[in-house]
Amino acid sequence: MSDKNSAQTGETISETNSAFLPVDTFDLVVFGGTGDLARRKLIPSLYHRFCDGQISPESRIIGTSRSDRSQEDYRRLVHDAYNSFSQDDDYDDGRWSDFKNQLDYVGLDVGDDKADWTALAKVLSKDADRVRVFYLAVPPKLYVDICKGLKAAGLVTPNARVVLEKPIGTDFKTAQSVNQGVGAVFAESSIYRIDHYLGKETVQNLLVLRFGNVLLEPLWSNRAIDHIEITVAESIGVGGRGAYYDGAGALRDMVQNHLLQLLCLTAMETPASLDADDVRTEKLKVLRALRLITDTNVAEDTVRGQYARGKVEDEVMADYLTDVGVDFSETETFVAIKAHIDNWRWAGVPIYIRTGKRMATRRSDIVIQFKPVPHSVFGDTKLNPNRLVIRLQPDEAVRLWMEIKEPGAGGLRLKTVPLNLAYADNFTVRYPDAYERLLMDVVRGNLSLFMRGDEVEAAWKWVDSILAAWSSSGQRIELYQAGQDGPDEAHDMLQKDGNSWV
Ligand code: BG6
Repeated sequence: MSDKNSAQTGETISETNSAFLPVDTFDLVVFGGTGDLARRKLIPSLYHRFCDGQISPESRIIGTSRSDRSQEDYRRLVHDAYNSFSQDDDYDDGRWSDFKNQLDYVGLDVGDDKADWTALAKVLSKDADRVRVFYLAVPPKLYVDICKGLKAAGLVTPNARVVLEKPIGTDFKTAQSVNQGVGAVFAESSIYRIDHYLGKETVQNLLVLRFGNVLLEPLWSNRAIDHIEITVAESIGVGGRGAYYDGAGALRDMVQNHLLQLLCLTAMETPASLDADDVRTEKLKVLRALRLITDTNVAEDTVRGQYARGKVEDEVMADYLTDVGVDFSETETFVAIKAHIDNWRWAGVPIYIRTGKRMATRRSDIVIQFKPVPHSVFGDTKLNPNRLVIRLQPDEAVRLWMEIKEPGAGGLRLKTVPLNLAYADNFTVRYPDAYERLLMDVVRGNLSLFMRGDEVEAAWKWVDSILAAWSSSGQRIELYQAGQDGPDEAHDMLQKDGNSWV
C-alpha cells in the first residue's frame, strides 16, 4: 500500500497509538481545593492522568482553602468525593494509595487582607525551579487579590502559571479589570483562561474534521451553507448553584464562553498552524465580526426564557424560583439568539444558538444545514438538502445526511440517510474528561485550548450588547415548562425564516 493511502485500511478505522507522554514534574496549587470543582473534576482528572503514567510520583498537588485541616483529612475528603461523584469504574484502591501520596493541604484564607502565605511558601520552597501551577477555583472576585498575594509572597517564579476559571468578569469592563490585575503579576503567556468545552474530545474533533479533510472547506461558507445551529441543552436545573446563577443567567454562564467558543471554532478561517496565537487570533476575528444586538433587532433575534414546573423524563421538577429560593427573578435559564457574522464567508448565513437548563434531555449539537441543490432533476420528488450534524455529547458522533435512491423497482424513490460516524461504533477508548487534557496542557505550557485576554473581552462586548438591549427594551422572559426545549418563541424565531431547530 502506498504512503498516500496507507491510513485507510480497508473498511475499518485503525485506532491511533494512545501512549501518554509524561509531563514535567510539577507543583499544582488548587485555590478552592475543597470546593465543588476540585472535588468533582480537578482531583479525579489528575488521578486519571496519574494512573496513565503521565504524572510523575514526585509531582505535588496542594489543596488550599480557608478551613484548617490536616493532610490526612484532605486526602480523605477528596477520596470520598471521587467515589461519590465518579461515574466510571476506573477506581483502584492500590493506585489511589499511590496517588494520594502526592496530595497535600495548606489552610489559607485568601479573602483575608492579612492572609499568611508562609505555610504555602514553605511547602513550595522545596523546588523553586519546577513547573508551578496556581489553579484559581474560587469566586472570580478573588483572582486579582490572590495574584497580588502570590507576588508579595515571592511565589511567582519564571516557571509559574495561573489558571483562571470562568466567568472572567461579569461584563466587558470587569473582565478588562481582571485581565489587567492578573496581567500585572503574570505575563499573558502564563495565563490559562479555561473553557472546559475546548477540552472535550468532540470539540477538538471539530478542528480535525474541518482542517484535516479536503472535502468540507470548499463548501464551508455562504456559497453552500444555508444556516448553522448550535445547541447546548441540559436537563439539569441550577441545583445548589442558585446564589451564583441567579446573578449570572444563561447568557453569561454559557453563551459568553462555551457557545461562543463553539461558534468560533465552527466559523473561523483556517489558522496557519495549531499554535496558540494562530488559533486564538482567528477566533478573535470571528468575535469581532459578530453583529451587535441593539434595540432594533433584539426582539426579533433573541429569546430569553425561564423554566417553570414540569416533567423531565417523567420526574416532576420544580420551577426555577423554587430551585433558587426567591419569589421573583428576571434571570434567564434559556437563551436563543440569531447571530450574524459580518464577513465575506458568512454574510447572509444566520447562526442560531441556544442553550437552556431543564430542557428535555442533555444534548449538544452543531448542525450545518446546506442549501438545496440549485436545480432538481427529480421533478416533484422531494429532495432534502444535505445536513452535517456534529453531536458533541452524549453519544459523540458525526453524521452527514445525504439523499440516496431507495432500492427497489417501481419508480425512483429517494431517501435521506446519514453517513454515520458514531464514536461508540468505531472507538473503544475511554473518553477523558475535558479537564484531564486541559490540566496536562497547562503543565506542558500549551495555550492553544485556552482563551486569550482579548478574546474574552471581545466575547463580552457582544454579550454586553445583548444585556443592554434586553434592559433598554424591557424584553420579556418567556416561561417554558421543565422538560420542554425552551419557550415557543424560540421555535417561532426560526420558523419566521422557514427553518426549525433540529
Ligand atoms: C458550566 C456552567 O460552565 O458548564 C454550568 O457553569 C453548566 O451551568 C456546565 O451546567 C455544562 O458543562 P457540561 O460539560 O456538563 O456540558
